[in-house]
Amino acid sequence: MTLWGGRFSTKLNQQAWDLNSSLSVDQRMAIQDVDGSIAWANALHKANILLDEEHASISLGLDTVKREFASGEFIFVPSDEDIHTAVERRLTELVGAVAGKLHTGRSRNDQVATDFRLWMLQTIPQLDSAIRILQSALIEQAEKANETLMPGYTHLQRAQPILLAHWWLSHFHPLQRDRERLTDLIKRVSILPLGSGALSGTPVPVDRAALAESLGFAVASPNSLDAVSDRDFAAEFLFCATLTGIHLSKLAEQIVLYTSAEFGFFELSDSFSTGSSLMPQKKNPDVFELTRGKAGTLIGMLAGLLATLKGLPSTYDKDLQEDKAPVFQATDTLLAILPVIAGALRTITAKPQRMRNAIDSFMMATDLADYLVDKGIPFRETHAIAGKAVRLAGEKNVQLEELSLEAYQALSPAFEADVYQVFDPLKSVEKRNAIGGTSLQSVKNQIQKIKGV
Ligand code: ARG
Repeated sequence: MTLWGGRFSTKLNQQAWDLNSSLSVDQRMAIQDVDGSIAWANALHKANILLDEEHASISLGLDTVKREFASGEFIFVPSDEDIHTAVERRLTELVGAVAGKLHTGRSRNDQVATDFRLWMLQTIPQLDSAIRILQSALIEQAEKANETLMPGYTHLQRAQPILLAHWWLSHFHPLQRDRERLTDLIKRVSILPLGSGALSGTPVPVDRAALAESLGFAVASPNSLDAVSDRDFAAEFLFCATLTGIHLSKLAEQIVLYTSAEFGFFELSDSFSTGSSLMPQKKNPDVFELTRGKAGTLIGMLAGLLATLKGLPSTYDKDLQEDKAPVFQATDTLLAILPVIAGALRTITAKPQRMRNAIDSFMMATDLADYLVDKGIPFRETHAIAGKAVRLAGEKNVQLEELSLEAYQALSPAFEADVYQVFDPLKSVEKRNAIGGTSLQSVKNQIQKIKGV
């Protein structure tokens, strides 16, 4: 059975059928499709289109269909073009011809958009909680890091010392924004298309506001033409997922780098690293590399959907059937990555000594300039003086703290014996005490604030 065919003299060509069919993708929205149908049957009943017995039998039938999906007993047949057809076909088997009344005033166009939005409303909290679990692993590590110092980089060149805790938390905040974005998206997903018909609205006198409420939507869509073609929510969802993927990828790249022998800042636990079939000594960060790699796939899916949406004539076009696969795949990707990264980070071991050894005195060159600022010299001048000290030390192949006081005083008479204190990286860190800085107090405040969220 197809949901159409009256005006056709022959069956659809088999390969065209295969191309057209979307069941393999949209069967994932089976429960949502049945829920939408139950709500629609109720609306038809209220509008006196379904008599009491008809409504009772359709509702009972739909309950059975839902149960069959939930238990995995539902059997698809080759003529099930999509999930909507499958549900109606099965309902007809269960309750007979009265099932044919369910589609009154409804189209697969408003139906599919409803299913998809319902599915998304139920999926966003799942993603949110997977991100939150990763965030709590980051906080745990930040608290464990205490006063551990590490080199901070810009341009991947040693820049200034920072607290390891501050670095951990720098990966918390992007994820927090991701969660805020997802939450904000809910209001644009929570708009009910059902009751828009194919494009122009439904002739059934339904109370769409009540229908929206019964399905857990905030409002009913205000324009039927827009309602059946709007896929902004899918594009936005993919953007949110992709940006999370990018944040995870940046974090992953740093873990890959920092677990290399050259850095040696972290060691992965055995339960989250992989070996080589050839080189017995290898311990590889595959899960982080895959995270980095999958961010590329996510970007591709977002770009793909945007290109699909571009230039579509209003209203529903079959192109829109391409909307679900990338959204489902992006969701599966994140739900696969997030718990693994959380587990890997929870069990990673920091190497404070390696981090400390990577902090050299040149990373306190800014503090050297600031030292002279405290003596009243303008920063522009002190920057140049400190730069000369760096050059001199470089020429002599020594550290900044190994230059003699005379050498410093030759660069500026303002230098005194206490200048050597600036080369203590903890002192440098402690000076960055304004909100958002890397000082111990500032980071402690940061953690406190985060935990209050
Ligand atoms: N499988 C379709 C989709 O995912 C459902 C809507 C089909 N509508 C239609 N007029 N053929 O978009």
